[in-house]
Amino acid sequence: MRMVDLIEKKRDGGVLSEEEIAFFVQGVTDNSIPDYQISAFLMAILFRGMNTEETAILTDKMEHSGQTIDLSSIHGATVDKHSTGGVGDKTSLALGPLVAACGAKLAKMSGKGLGHTGGTLDKLESIPGYQIQRSIEQFIHQVNDIGLSIIGQTAEVDPADKKLYALRDVTGTVESIPLIASSIMSKKLAAGAQTILLDVKYGAGAFMKDLSSARELAKVMVNIGKHLHKDTRAILTGMEEPLGFAVGNALEVKEAIDELKGHGPKDFHELIIRAGGIMLLQAKIVSSEEEGERKIQEAIDNGSGLRKLIEMVEAQGGDASYIENPCKFPISKRIIEVHAEESGYVHHIDSLAIGLTAMRLGAGRATMNDVIDHSAGILLAKKVGDKVEKGELLFTMYTNKDEIGSAVEDALKAYQIHEEKIVAPSIIADYLF
Ligand code: URA
Repeated sequence: MRMVDLIEKKRDGGVLSEEEIAFFVQGVTDNSIPDYQISAFLMAILFRGMNTEETAILTDKMEHSGQTIDLSSIHGATVDKHSTGGVGDKTSLALGPLVAACGAKLAKMSGKGLGHTGGTLDKLESIPGYQIQRSIEQFIHQVNDIGLSIIGQTAEVDPADKKLYALRDVTGTVESIPLIASSIMSKKLAAGAQTILLDVKYGAGAFMKDLSSARELAKVMVNIGKHLHKDTRAILTGMEEPLGFAVGNALEVKEAIDELKGHGPKDFHELIIRAGGIMLLQAKIVSSEEEGERKIQEAIDNGSGLRKLIEMVEAQGGDASYIENPCKFPISKRIIEVHAEESGYVHHIDSLAIGLTAMRLGAGRATMNDVIDHSAGILLAKKVGDKVEKGELLFTMYTNKDEIGSAVEDALKAYQIHEEKIVAPSIIADYLF
């Protein structure tokens, strides 16, 4: 088989066979196909697409390009969730402990953040001592012991995706639904959980800019799951404004703790309750989503979710006193309060602009080698739908940088304030299963 023939076939709109896709993934993994041919092939896929069968085969071959994690020695139902990435998305930090407190087993491998969306691992690493690198034996042992572990993905899992993702990033081929779907699903499948809940975000700060493309991506991923006999469901959630108030690593950990104590922001709480209800249903711990939602609320009210987070942090070498007493998280040396220049109602907060600004303050990485400042970020004081008076606090910026250029102006421009009243829409736009 020759790679050039596969490139031409896809370029001309052909449908690839299983053998051809296997040849491609094998060549990506063992480096026998040069980057220029991989890139040309990715571009052909971006323009021509892939049908359901091709996408499922690509996913399956990528999943098996490296180590697959066998979670069968975990007692009980293993659940996993994945977010396609958003600004202020600290969901796993609260949802993981809550579903574990309700009896599900969450064995989650996460990634580091790049660009304006943060990564769960970076947030966890703002807790001093928290170890993200664990052996698979330690990982499984911990999940059996306390029901929960969140670690970094090992280098051996899905090597084909690592290579493809790095090339897509620099060849303008990230925005292809079959490529995004196979990338996400192959990693999730390789990580071994019995059920997967996908949180597919849409809006300015997300990969998918509108609801209809998010729905399409979600459908493709749910279909891949079905094809491979895995209970896969998706919720479509708005990213037209950041999730909650906090954007930035330690700030987000503190907000997740707030949620576990019962006073999280409204949109974040809504997402936690809904997603938690679905995950408990997937784990067959409850027989309806509503029952699952009630159980998640109970785990907030009785403090068992917060205790589970403390147990996880302790088990992974972290200093749990930071969870018990979040005032211990270091505060950045510069705190800049920004006030509204007009009165009215907040209609929109451009999450992309807020995410990019937080990154410039030190909260995110522009390249994979950048070092994160865990204390940096932005804490919103007003969300969509809120009334604001001229001169009132809109948001606070935290940074250790002396030079932040036009960061204040850029974040201020993210806010659209108008005279008319507006009611913030529900964060969850749809649910697919
Ligand atoms: N997240 C992934 O893991 N892969 C993609 O292609 C896009 C988002």
